Amino acid sequence: MATYVLPQDFFFGAAMSGPQTEGGWNIGGKLENLWDTWSIEDISSFYNQVGSYVGNDFMHHYKDDLALLESLGMNNYRTSIQWSRLLDENGEINPEGAAWYHELFRASKEAGLEVFVNLYHFDMPTYLFRRGGWENREVCEAYANYAYKAFCEFGQEVRFWFTFNEPIVEPENRYWHSMWYPQHHSFQEACTAQYNISIAHALGVARYRQAVAEGRMLPDARIGMICNFSPSYTKDDPSEADLEALRMNDGLTNRWWLDLVTKGCLPADVIKTLTEDLGIVLPARPYDADVLKDGVVDWIGCNYYQPSRVQAPSRTHDEWGNPLFAEPYVWPERVMNESRGWEIYPKGIYDFGMKCKNEYPELEWYVSENGIGIEREYLNKDPKTQQVIDDYRVDFVRDHLIWIAKAIEDGAKCVGYHYWGLIDNWSWANAYKNRYGFVEVDLMENYERRPKKSAAWLTKVATSHVVE
Ligand code: FCB
Repeated sequence: MATYVLPQDFFFGAAMSGPQTEGGWNIGGKLENLWDTWSIEDISSFYNQVGSYVGNDFMHHYKDDLALLESLGMNNYRTSIQWSRLLDENGEINPEGAAWYHELFRASKEAGLEVFVNLYHFDMPTYLFRRGGWENREVCEAYANYAYKAFCEFGQEVRFWFTFNEPIVEPENRYWHSMWYPQHHSFQEACTAQYNISIAHALGVARYRQAVAEGRMLPDARIGMICNFSPSYTKDDPSEADLEALRMNDGLTNRWWLDLVTKGCLPADVIKTLTEDLGIVLPARPYDADVLKDGVVDWIGCNYYQPSRVQAPSRTHDEWGNPLFAEPYVWPERVMNESRGWEIYPKGIYDFGMKCKNEYPELEWYVSENGIGIEREYLNKDPKTQQVIDDYRVDFVRDHLIWIAKAIEDGAKCVGYHYWGLIDNWSWANAYKNRYGFVEVDLMENYERRPKKSAAWLTKVATSHVVE
C-alpha cells in the first residue's frame, strides 16, 4: 500500500461539542436548551430514551479525557461553549458557567492542548426559542451579545473561534424536514431561520472584530465558521433538470455559506429562485447587504461525512406544499455505512479542496469533523479483552487522510484534521446509537472510557504524519 505523508505543520485533533459531552444540564445556573426541553417533553423521540442530560459525563471526566487526547497524539481539540450555560436570561454572564469554561481552558492548556471554541452547536436556549428562536431577528442580536460576552471573557485564553457549527442543520432538521423539535414542515420557516442565522453569524464576526480592535483578543486569534459541506454530484449524463437540481442543492447547502464567509453576501441566483420564483419571503432589512459584508472570516472548517448525490425531482412539491428541488440519486457504485445510512466517499474531500482552490483561492480550511458511526459496536468486542475491534474505522480515516494528502499536493489550502467524536458521545436524537469514537464510553459502567483497537493506529498517524 502506498504511503502518504502529511505536512509537518498539519495539525491533528478531535472535535466535540458542549451539549453532546458536558452533561450537568441543570447545574451551575445552566438554563434549558432545546435538547433538554425536548428530552423533558418527549423522551421517546430519543434512541433508547437517552436524553440530553448527561452527554458523555465530560464535566466529571474532563481531566482524564484531556490526558487521553494528549496520549493519543493530539495537541488540540474543538468543543463548544453552551450559550445556555454561559449567560443568564438577561444576557449577562452566569459566573458559575463562566468558571467551568475558565477551568476547562486552564486544564486544556496544562495538558498541552489548544482549544478551538465554537459558539453555537444546535443548542438554542429554550427561553429564546420561546421568543421565536432563529425566526426572530432579536435573537440574532441576542446571539451577537452572547458572542461578544464570550470574546471578552475568554479572549485571552482562546485563539481559535467559530461562530456556528453546521448552520444549515437547524433550518433543515427543525423547520423543514421535521426531524428535530419543534418538528415543523415549513420551507418558508427554514428559509427565515437560515437567513437569520447568516445575519447572526455576520453580527458575531463584527463583534469579534470589535473585540480585536479593543485589544481583547490574543494577537494571533482567528474567527471562522464550520459547515457540513457535502460536495454535490448528479448523474454522469445529466439532463437540464438534473443540473438545475444540482444548482439549488449545492446553492442552499454549500455556496450559501461559502459566499457568506468569503464575499460577505448570499448567492444571488439562489436568492432569486427563492424569492422571485417560489415566493419565499426572506426577513431582509434595508441595510442587510452591509450587515452581511461583515460575514467574511479568517478561515473555515469543513465537516465531511458523506457526499450529496441528487437528480431532478419527480414532482415539484411535497405533501406539505414545500418545494422540492432535488431527489436523492443512488450512485450505482456507492459504498454505504449501513449503520448511519451515509455513503462513504473519501474522494469527496478532495473534490471539496479543489472546489475551494478554484472558486475561493484565498480560503484556508481544515477538516473540522470526519468520522464513522457504527451501530451495536459492542458486538465487535474481542471476547477475551473486551476491546472493540474496529478496523473499519482505520480504513475510513486512512482513506480520507489519503485524499486530503492528495488535495494538499494539488494545491488545496487544508491545514489540519479533527476526528469527530474521538471519545463516544451523545448524538442528538440518535443518542448513543452510532458510536464514532476511537475510545469507547461504557454507559453501563459509569461512562468509563476504553480505547478501541483503532486508537493505537491513530496515535501513530497523528504523531508521525505518515498515513499507511
Ligand atoms: C455532525 C454534527 C456533530 C455530530 C456528527 C455525527 O453533523 O456536527 O455534532 O453529531 O454529525
